[in-house]
Amino acid sequence: MSTHSTKGTALITGASTGIGAVYADRLAKRGYDLILVARSLDKLNEVAKRVQSATGRKVESVQADLTVPADVKRVADRLAADTSITALVNNAGIAAANKLLESDPNYLDQMIQLNITAFTRVAIAAASAFVARSKGLIINIGSVVALAPELLNGTYSGTKAYVQNFSTSLKNELAGKGVTVQVVLPGATATPLWEKAGVNVHTDLPPEWVMTTEDMVDASLAGLDQGEFATIPALPNSADFEVYEKARLALAPGLSRKNPADRYGIGAQK
Ligand SMILES: NC(=O)c1ccc[n+]([C@@H]2O[C@H](COP(=O)([O-])OP(=O)(O)OC[C@H]3O[C@@H](n4cnc5c(N)ncnc54)[C@H](OP(=O)(O)O)[C@@H]3O)[C@@H](O)[C@H]2O)c1
Repeated sequence: MSTHSTKGTALITGASTGIGAVYADRLAKRGYDLILVARSLDKLNEVAKRVQSATGRKVESVQADLTVPADVKRVADRLAADTSITALVNNAGIAAANKLLESDPNYLDQMIQLNITAFTRVAIAAASAFVARSKGLIINIGSVVALAPELLNGTYSGTKAYVQNFSTSLKNELAGKGVTVQVVLPGATATPLWEKAGVNVHTDLPPEWVMTTEDMVDASLAGLDQGEFATIPALPNSADFEVYEKARLALAPGLSRKNPADRYGIGAQK
C-alpha cells in the first residue's frame, strides 16, 4: 500500500534497464514515487511492478521514444505541469564503440538526438519547473569518456562532454535557487548498453574496469549525499578531479584576448 510521499516524485528517463532501473529501486527506497520513461513498456512495467512490491511506492510507466520530438515534448510538458515532480534522473542514452568512419551516420544522428537534444529539453523543462518552486534535484548521467575522448567513439564521448559542460553551466546558473544539480560520470558499468554497442562487457573489457550497476548507482547517491557536484564513482582520489578543474579554470584569463599570442608572430608583422 503506497503512503503519501514526502519526497515527491522522481522522473527517470531510460528506466527500463541498466542504470535507470537501479535508480528506480534506490529512489523508491529513499521515499520517492516514480515516473519511469523509456520505449519498451513491458520492461518498464516489470521494473515498476518489482519496485512497487518492494517499496509500496506509486510507480507509473510512460512509454516514450526520446528521439521523437513529440514524445520528448510530452515528457517535458509533464515535467513542467506536474507539481509533484521534485527530481529528474536524466539518464536515457545510447553508446557507440566503433570508429567514426565505420559508424552508421544515421545511428550517430539518433545518438545526438537522444543524448543531447532530448537530454537538453528534459533538463531545461525540469530546471524551469524546479526554479519556479525553489526546490528540486537534477541528476544528469554523463560518462568518464567526457574526460577521455581517446576511448570509444568520438560522437559518444562528444555527447557526454556536452552533458558535462551543460551540467556545469546549469549548476552555476541555478546556484542559490534551491535546485541541486549533480553530474555522474560512470566508468564502464555492466549494463545492456555495451551489448547494444557491439561489445561484450564481460569478455571484451578487463574485469577490473567494470563496475556493477548497483555499486555505480549506490556510489553516485553517496556522492550526492556528500554534496558532490561531479561524481566519478571509480576515481580513487577525488582531489585528482579537483586538480583537473583548477587547471581548466586557470586557463580562463588567456582564452579570449584582443591580441593573438606572441608565438604566432602576428603583432611582429604589423
Ligand atoms: N553502461 C556504462 O558503462 C555507462 C558508462 C557511462 C555512462 N553511461 C550512461 O548511462 C546511461 C544509461 O545507460 P545504461 O548503461 O544503463 O544502458 P541501458 O541499460 O542500455 O539503458 C539505456 C536506457 O535508455 C533507454 N533508451 C534507449 N533509447 C531510448 C529512446 N530512443 N527513447 C527513450 N529511452 C531510450 C533504454 O530503454 P528502451 O530501449 O526501452 O527505450 C534504457 O532504459 C546512458 O546515458 C549512458 O550513456 C553508461
